[in-house]
Amino acid sequence: MAKAVDYELGPHTFPRGWFVIAEKSELDKGPMAVRFFGRDLALYRGESGKPVLLDAYCKHMGTHLTASDSAMIVRNGHQIEGDSIRCPYHGWRYNAAGDVDDIPYHDGPCPKSASIRSYPVVDSMGCIMAWFDEEGGEPDYAAPALPEWDHPQWVQWQLDHLGELAIHPQEVLDNMSDIRHLGPTHGAPAEYFENEAREHIYIQRQGGIMQLYGGVMLYTTTWYTGPGLLLSKQVWGDSVQYELIANTPVDDGVIKAWHGCLVKAPALPVSDEDRANAALQQAGALEAFATDFQIWRHKKPALKIMQLKTDGPFRTGRKWYSQFYLPRAEAAALHSETNGIYHVQGMPTPSDKGHAIDDDLPI
Ligand code: FES
Ligand SMILES: [Fe+2]
Repeated sequence: MAKAVDYELGPHTFPRGWFVIAEKSELDKGPMAVRFFGRDLALYRGESGKPVLLDAYCKHMGTHLTASDSAMIVRNGHQIEGDSIRCPYHGWRYNAAGDVDDIPYHDGPCPKSASIRSYPVVDSMGCIMAWFDEEGGEPDYAAPALPEWDHPQWVQWQLDHLGELAIHPQEVLDNMSDIRHLGPTHGAPAEYFENEAREHIYIQRQGGIMQLYGGVMLYTTTWYTGPGLLLSKQVWGDSVQYELIANTPVDDGVIKAWHGCLVKAPALPVSDEDRANAALQQAGALEAFATDFQIWRHKKPALKIMQLKTDGPFRTGRKWYSQFYLPRAEAAALHSETNGIYHVQGMPTPSDKGHAIDDDLPI
């Protein structure tokens, strides 16, 4: 299992950015014990509805804040107070900022040294997304959100939980530049292709005949917002959908992944049949994506790619991805090197084929 240092990405072990850490419907059932970024974490929803993510362990005696469902304070429904959470062992109360603000058997100020780290979290598109930054900085871009998510003609996804995969996320990100796997792996060789790097965004525009979708022409615009969240607008025949693929580091060299499709119904009002069709469409997209997943599960790390001139721009993609492993100031400087549009030798571009750049996307 290769680690961040083996890819020479930069000084950080885990990338900076917004990541999916749970599905909203999971968190709605109650506090969760999760592990990401090499850390055990406590995730819960406050009474105001605010999702809160804290380092997991209480400073008093090391109890995991959200791993007990049998402690009486949990069973009695008294663990969450406002947006704060009480430790199930002795009831110290942590607020959403990670500071202890009440100890049931102690008068006077609570120890500042009891504070634990709190991470920015948002609800977006049925996902709980957290901001991670090894330097502890605030987000420098917004978590992705599609305006279509709340539109009544779009059928929302319920995520496929793909579980953990012992692969470094670099190998997942390589897919964005990888024009030459589209035929052998997905049965949809590209007829046009380009990548664009734009600060923290990396875009792929391509299209080709898709064997799995019955031999129709599939047009896609796919983009990463930061290192962990892929959205892809996909159009074929009269169909249009957005696919989500999320990867989040669990430990160095291990990711967790999720998948979903937001599907436009033919007309309003949306029927049960439309919902069933949307679920089938998501299953079809998962079948296509699962081929990548199976290859990743069994491949050796590509620490260096033996790149041909007619391969996609892997080096640019990797350089773009490395920004998330650099201190922020260096990442900003890297943009002047990576920002731009990249084509592949011998391959038509979207404009060669008359496909205008998709300017209506929230990229
Ligand atoms: S271990 Fe958390 S309150 Fe004692
Ligand atoms: Fe792929």
